[in-house]
Amino acid sequence: MGSKNKLRRFKENETFSNVFQPSRNELVSGEYELEGCWRTSVFKNKNPLVLELGCGKGEYSVALAKKYPDKNFIGIDIKGARFWRGAKTAIEEDIPNVAFLRTQIELIDYAFAENEVDEIWITFPDPQIKYKRTKHRMTNETFLKRYKKILKAEGVVNLKTDSEFMHGYTLGLLHGAGHEVLYANHNVYKQEGSPEEVTSIQTFYESQYLEQNKPITYIRFKIKH
Ligand SMILES: C[S@@+](CC[C@H](N)C(=O)[O-])C[C@H]1O[C@@H](n2cnc3c(N)ncnc32)[C@H](O)[C@@H]1O
Repeated sequence: MGSKNKLRRFKENETFSNVFQPSRNELVSGEYELEGCWRTSVFKNKNPLVLELGCGKGEYSVALAKKYPDKNFIGIDIKGARFWRGAKTAIEEDIPNVAFLRTQIELIDYAFAENEVDEIWITFPDPQIKYKRTKHRMTNETFLKRYKKILKAEGVVNLKTDSEFMHGYTLGLLHGAGHEVLYANHNVYKQEGSPEEVTSIQTFYESQYLEQNKPITYIRFKIKH
């Protein structure tokens, strides 16, 4: 994408009522006004709150919001020019139960209060295979601790990835630490049994992996409280 196009999207994001872009300082000060208030201040209801981490263009957030009008969805990514797509679609199609938050996932426990979140989707995260990148892997123990903090005790996490490495690493870590794997499938379009929303929604990255005939994997789990 050209830099002009990016700038246009950044500008437009600032005018969207469904886009939130707190600064790092605002978050780490511990005084972010929406922490603990997403339902009441943004969605004006008491419905469950579902997050999509590393949402890219926001395909899951938008599609799930349409499918479940009685739940609230927030797509989170550091790249505003990407989720501009999802935010724009939500405005054009008048979908009230989806919003987008521009931040680093590392700061997620500053953006949401304890027990505020019902469910998390992690869609096609970068597997961060190199040893030095392990700390950025979105299912490592540090990230799981952050998710646990903001999730309700019964809250679940969904991981969809093309990376067999990420799938195996996450399963190993979950089993090793005694977290509860509710469901796992290493080839969702070939091996039956995945929930409908796993096979009926494809993200931008996923469509590219499917064209390359890569198997798509899925895990649904609970973090031990
Ligand atoms: C491989 S892309 C997948 C995007 C989308 N889920 C899809 O499947 O099309 C990974 C996304 O995660 C975002 N991301 C990676 N690390 C992040 C972090 N630490 N905080 C926020 N976003 C991050 C990137 O900006 C990118 O959009």
